[in-house]
Parts: sequence; C-alpha cells; structure tokens
Amino acid sequence: MRCGSPFYASGDADFGYDVTDHCAVDPRMGDLATFDALLAEARARGLRVLVDYVPNHTSIEHPWFADSRTSRQAARRDWYVWADPRRDGGPPNNWRSVFGGSAWTRDPPTGQYYLHSFLGEQPDLNWRNPEVEAAMLDVLRFWMDRGVDGFRIDAAEHLLADPELRDNPTSETGDPQAKRLGEYDTQRHLHDRGHPDVHALYRRIRRRLDRHPSGPRVALAEIVPEPGVGLAHWASFYGRALDEIHLPLNLTLPSLPWDAAAFQDTVDAVERAVPAGGWPTIVLGSHDERRVASRYGPDQARCLLVVLLTLRGTPVLFNGDELALTDSPVPAGEARDPWGRRQAEFNRDRGRAPMPWTSGDHAGFTAGAQPWLPLPEHPQALSVGVQAEDPESTLTLTRRLLALRRDLPVLRRGGYVSVRGPADVLAYERRDDTHRVRVLANFAQDARRVALDGAGWELAVSSSGEAALDADAPALGAHAAAVLVRHTS
Ligand code: GLC
Repeated sequence: MRCGSPFYASGDADFGYDVTDHCAVDPRMGDLATFDALLAEARARGLRVLVDYVPNHTSIEHPWFADSRTSRQAARRDWYVWADPRRDGGPPNNWRSVFGGSAWTRDPPTGQYYLHSFLGEQPDLNWRNPEVEAAMLDVLRFWMDRGVDGFRIDAAEHLLADPELRDNPTSETGDPQAKRLGEYDTQRHLHDRGHPDVHALYRRIRRRLDRHPSGPRVALAEIVPEPGVGLAHWASFYGRALDEIHLPLNLTLPSLPWDAAAFQDTVDAVERAVPAGGWPTIVLGSHDERRVASRYGPDQARCLLVVLLTLRGTPVLFNGDELALTDSPVPAGEARDPWGRRQAEFNRDRGRAPMPWTSGDHAGFTAGAQPWLPLPEHPQALSVGVQAEDPESTLTLTRRLLALRRDLPVLRRGGYVSVRGPADVLAYERRDDTHRVRVLANFAQDARRVALDGAGWELAVSSSGEAALDADAPALGAHAAAVLVRHTS
C-alpha cells in the first residue's frame, strides 16, 4: 500500500493540506474527470485507490472560514474554534502548533482568537458542531460515491480537543518510540488533541464507511504516539470493539536510531499494543520524513525493505523508497515546506523529491517544465527504468520480496514471534501451520554469523549478494538482511 497526498483545491500554504474545497480537484492537477480517469485506469490494473481526507482543518481561504471570521453572529461562526483573549490580551491558553508557536491567532474583525493545530492558514474545524460533522461526512460520501476504496485520515487525533480549553501540562519525558517535534514536545498533549469524545466520533465515521451502499471502505489514520505516553493511547483508535479505525498508522519506526535493539523493542511493543483481532501497519517512510536511504544509508534502506515487507501487517511504502531514493538536495534557506522555513531541521522538502522514472530529462518526471523540488543526486542511475533491468537493484529486491509475499501465505497472514538474536541482529519469525519464516537483519558494520535451530532452512531472499547459508548458519554481511523459510508439514 502506498500513501498519497491531497490533491484538492487548496490555498497551498501546506502543499494541499489547507483545503479550500474538499470535493474539487486542484485545477493545476486536473479536474474531477481526471480523477475518474485515474480511478478507472487504476482499477484496470487491479489497483485500489485510497485518498487523503483532511478533516481537522480547512484553508483560511475556505468559504466556510471566510464567513466564520466576518462577525460573532456569522452563520458559520461556530464551524471553527473561537475563543476570547486572556485578560492580558494573549492567546486563550498555552497550546502550541505542531509547526511551532502558539496554536492561536487573533483575528482583527472580531478580536477573538481561532485555533490552528498546524499553520495559521489552517484553522481547526469545530467537530463539536453537528453541522460540521454532517458536512464533513458528506465529503466522505462524495468520494465513496465516486468509487474510492478508502481514506488516509490526516491528523486524525486532533479532531476533538478539551471543550474547556484547559492548559496542557509541561513535559520533560523522552521516548524513543515517539517522533521528535521540537518545541511541541515541551508539553504533554493532554487537552489539545485526542479528547475521549473522539472515539464516539470515529465510531460514527466507521459506520459511514461500513454501510456505504456500494460496499465497505477502509480507513487508515495518522495518529502520532506522544513521547513518554506509550502505545496504549495510540492503540485505542482501533476501538474497544474494533469499531473505529481499521488501520491506525504505526508511526513509531521512522524515528528510531539505527539500532537492532531499538527496532526489536519497538516492533515487540507495537505487537503487544495492537488489540486482539486488530491488524498492524508498518511504516518506514512518508512525505513527512527524511528518506530512509538518507536517514540510515543505502544498504540500510535495502535491509529495512526486507523488514517492511516481512513484518506482520500491512506495509505502507512511500513512493521512491523501493528505489532507495535519497533526500532532495534543497539548498539551505530555500525551503518550500512551511515547517522547514520556520525550523530547518524539520524541512520536509527533503523526502519529497520527484520520482525518477527514466534516464531522460528530469529523470522522466516532467518534460519541458522545472520540477517543483530538486531531484536527488544521480536520479537517472536510481530511476525505475535503470533499476528494472538490474538484477541487483533495490527495485528488483522489492519485487522479489513482493513475489515472496504473494507465494507464501505465512508472510501475509502468519503470526509474529520475536526471536532474540545475537547483539546487533534484529530477528523474528512469521509462523503458520505449514511454514516458519525467519528474518534476520544485521545492523552491525561487520558480518555476523547467526546460528539457526534445526535443519531444513532455505534462503529465500537477501538484501545483499553476500548473504549465504552455510552449514545451516547464515552469514550476513554488514547491514544485510535475509529471509529464511522452513516447511513444517
Ligand atoms: C499531517 C500531514 C502533514 C501535514 C499536516 C497538516 O501531519 O501528514 O503533511 O502538514 O498533517 O495537515
């Protein structure tokens, strides 16, 4: 499964995540007929299409907000979260925007502040207003009627905050399982997101998805685990009766250091946190992260592709990671990303380079136009066209792993068993009634030999040509991973 980005009409302050019309296509990308054609072409190739759903906020230019801000009596005043200044004129409370600074902006026409969990150009909708809920559920219906197969719910946890607008407590906890967000991490996000009422809302959303006349649809949701809080809150979004989000995205892996124990502990913790009957997701890259190959290195990226495609759950592959694409070399001070312009260390342009397709101009991404971000270095050599012909390429490795998943039901549906390997080696098994699959990933800078229990193991795939199975003990090169299979019946 790949994760996309919004293509709706937008004010373009946050690359489509500030929507001006949830039911229209950005004219620079086409129109609804273009979308219908895309859907039909995808169907013809056996692909399903999920679209981004951005429910937490709109663009400041959305007609709803344009009306809301005109006066306190405006018809849509209560469609957004407005509050009076504190006595000293400052913002109503201490909540921070994910992108830095206060989560409140004072609006001169009425003197009140409006809430924005992200940019000031992205005012938060007030989902406590039943009219907002009805309008936004209509958006889901609109896209389901058009035939989409599901949604990636953006900023899913932010939809409902504390109605009393209480201050967040400060936080000093660190947690390797959570993404670091800078200034935003100085608070515990107790009141500004994830209010308990959000669960009833997701049950209502789920019913809409389940009961659409042309069949049920799937929901993935972006829920970022909070430092120091563990994974129980994240896992609560499956719903007590598995009646909320089908697939809360597991965003724990991209923040980890290159350390086998950190990966093993985190994968095990996620497996423990997913409720019985719930289905995990595996995410290593996204449009919000640096490229895997730049974060850890190109061999490491190949090693992690093996992990991505063999862990239990639905793998989510960010386009380009199947090529071990590296970051876009965006010159310092030239960030396009609004977050990167405020805080250079968070510049998301880096992971958003255009996809290199061929060895032509701009690596075949566009003809006669300048790509919106610089391509990574050596884009032609990394391109799909070149890698498809190379038996040792990362694309070929990805295809081999996907073929193995198709061939072996144990990789798709088998259980997960954590195996403590030697130091620096991530080790686990997938098991069903007929197969055991052992995955070994060597995080060390030198080769490792790993003893296996019993005979009969076969080497199915390895991330480097160096891996060899010798006397039932595979030797793994530096930063290499191997998949071993054994029939058990
Ligand atoms: C999510 C998106 C991110 C966007 C933000 C605000 O985190 O993944 O790209 O900037 O929401 O909509």
